Amino acid sequence: EGTLVDTVQAEVERAADRYGGTARRNPTEAGLPPADLVLALTDALPPDSSPATEPGPPETLTATATATTTAVATATAQLATATAQLGESLGVEGFALARHAGVTVVLADAPAGLLYGLFELVRLGEAAFGPTHPVRVHRPVMARRMLDHWDNVDVHPVMGQVERGYAGGSIFWHDGRPRGDVARVTAYARLLAACGINAVSVNNVNVHATEARLLTERLDDVVDLADLLRPYAIRVHLAVTFAAPMVLGGLPTADPLDQAVRDWWAETTARVYARIPDFGGYLVKADSEGQPGPFSYGRDHADGANLLAEALAPYGGVVHWRAFVYNHRQDWRDRSTDRARAAYDHFAPLDGRFRDNVIVQVKHGPIDFQTREPVSPVIAAMPGTRLAVEFQVTQEYTGQQKHVCYLAPWWSEILRFAPWGDDGRTVADVAADGGGLVAVSNVGDDEFWTGHPLAQANLYAFGRLCWNPRLRPQEVLDEWIDLTFAPDARVDPELLRRTLHEIMDDSWRTYERYTAPLGVGFMVRPGHHYGPDVDGYEYTPWGTYHFADRDGVGVDRTRATGTGFTGQYPPPWSEQYESIDTCPDELLLFFHHVPYGHLLHCGSTVIQHIYDTHFEGVREVEAMCRRWEWLARLVDPAVHARVTERLAEQVRCAREWCDQVNAYFHRKSGIPDAHGRALH
Ligand code: GCU
Repeated sequence: EGTLVDTVQAEVERAADRYGGTARRNPTEAGLPPADLVLALTDALPPDSSPATEPGPPETLTATATATTTAVATATAQLATATAQLGESLGVEGFALARHAGVTVVLADAPAGLLYGLFELVRLGEAAFGPTHPVRVHRPVMARRMLDHWDNVDVHPVMGQVERGYAGGSIFWHDGRPRGDVARVTAYARLLAACGINAVSVNNVNVHATEARLLTERLDDVVDLADLLRPYAIRVHLAVTFAAPMVLGGLPTADPLDQAVRDWWAETTARVYARIPDFGGYLVKADSEGQPGPFSYGRDHADGANLLAEALAPYGGVVHWRAFVYNHRQDWRDRSTDRARAAYDHFAPLDGRFRDNVIVQVKHGPIDFQTREPVSPVIAAMPGTRLAVEFQVTQEYTGQQKHVCYLAPWWSEILRFAPWGDDGRTVADVAADGGGLVAVSNVGDDEFWTGHPLAQANLYAFGRLCWNPRLRPQEVLDEWIDLTFAPDARVDPELLRRTLHEIMDDSWRTYERYTAPLGVGFMVRPGHHYGPDVDGYEYTPWGTYHFADRDGVGVDRTRATGTGFTGQYPPPWSEQYESIDTCPDELLLFFHHVPYGHLLHCGSTVIQHIYDTHFEGVREVEAMCRRWEWLARLVDPAVHARVTERLAEQVRCAREWCDQVNAYFHRKSGIPDAHGRALH
């Protein structure tokens, strides 16, 4: 905790410089008081903190006060009393914020709360030092707000240093060794804390030979990272291989019910906690895409997860056990196997069998981070299990950080989705009561962190939606714009803000328009998943099909005539998705196979909708480019140049998508465009 307090102290000094400076810059015009700021831990306050008592200087963490000690003491005491009267506990990460008697006060029960309170002040900027306001309590909705790095220690021959990484190399590892860039990892920890992230898994879920050894002989590497992240209240987690007792321990089996295997995990885990007392726990991808798992021993995933949970339990650690389990060696001729069903079929029957410290980590959709999918039915199917919902900040299927694609509107839609109907709990509620939210990181050693400078907004938005899933995506984008593009005399902040909103607010829907239509998904180039290839996965073992023929397109997942996937949802969605009349347009081809002439609720036929949206998507990207040009002199030239370069690629790629998808469906259907545009 000591180092966390030091962090807060250092951050406060930075903030004081920044806002003190700002306030002084033009005090009469801006009418700002000096930035008097107090950050206090409740247990540092005198027991009776009523302002009526003679206020001595509070034992605050720090005060940058030009105000008198008495004013500082009074303001702090006021806030302490008001907070106590609210009767709500702040918790380890919560804080209360108020401005009173010309002093801005942040009060927390623990150092992490002060840190988050401080970053809230930074977000508020000068507004934090404006008019007096009563106490406002902030607490995170999700207890665990986690990023999974898919970073390899060794350079993988196909996937490189970072699997699905689009921002250069790993900030943790380089070519088999720790990168050792202390300044970079510290800056990263600070960035994450400012977004609200409090847990990081530091290696890829596909655990290869070298990475497996992070658990044992390479543990020092993990200790070093934990030491750098801890001062920013971030706990380290590790992706481990289920076969570890064999590959690291030399045992003949990894059978979860074998006593020697259990002992090996217990001893190994004890050694980890001896070095990293606040270690978060393990992350496991088992029996999935070639990773080892309990199926090899005729055991199920509850047996597998409970094995690791048992080893972690004495230390308060958790196991994040991924539900991404499906047959990736499917025969495409077999119409009865449906990849969308797989996670539910494997996991729903196990509900109630997992130990308390198992978190079943469910991808938000039933397939794989597509641009549009329904919410995974697993989220509504396991009331007796702690669930975490997994997102993908790295833009594997959403433009690979070459395309602008602000994902917060998509995540927000998912988090607000109510699987049991409008009166029921939401996806966010399920995650909040369970294991929180997790996302695959989009950060690398790129000078802008995320390759595309505007992709930073996705990282920021993920953290903010974890903290409060009800925040509106535009509001989050506003925060990010203010924090990223510091106000500068030469800049027209309103033009900058408006233009970035015009480019980014709807960019996920724009991306959807020029790529795979109506929820069908996966029309990408196999392997690297960038750019169009309508039939790329159609005759493969991966289970990702669209079934387009001369008459129609889409996957029949109904109970009546299809794979029965709709039956995995509770009402009302089981009915709503089942019926072609009530299925939402944007998911029509996910649930139904329909003729090209089928009339959508929006009034267009399926085929005309495909043509129209693809042309429209390209036009929207062209407009983004023009808008970005207006900002030429308003943003840093290096940022401007990088985004300009990426936008050029986005236009090229969007046209390619448009032309291929439209030509494909024109050739299949023989139906011309109602507006006579060229379809190639
Ligand atoms: C996707 C992705 C893989 C990744 C997998 C996972 O399939 O393409 O690279 O390993 O998801 O989530 O485990």
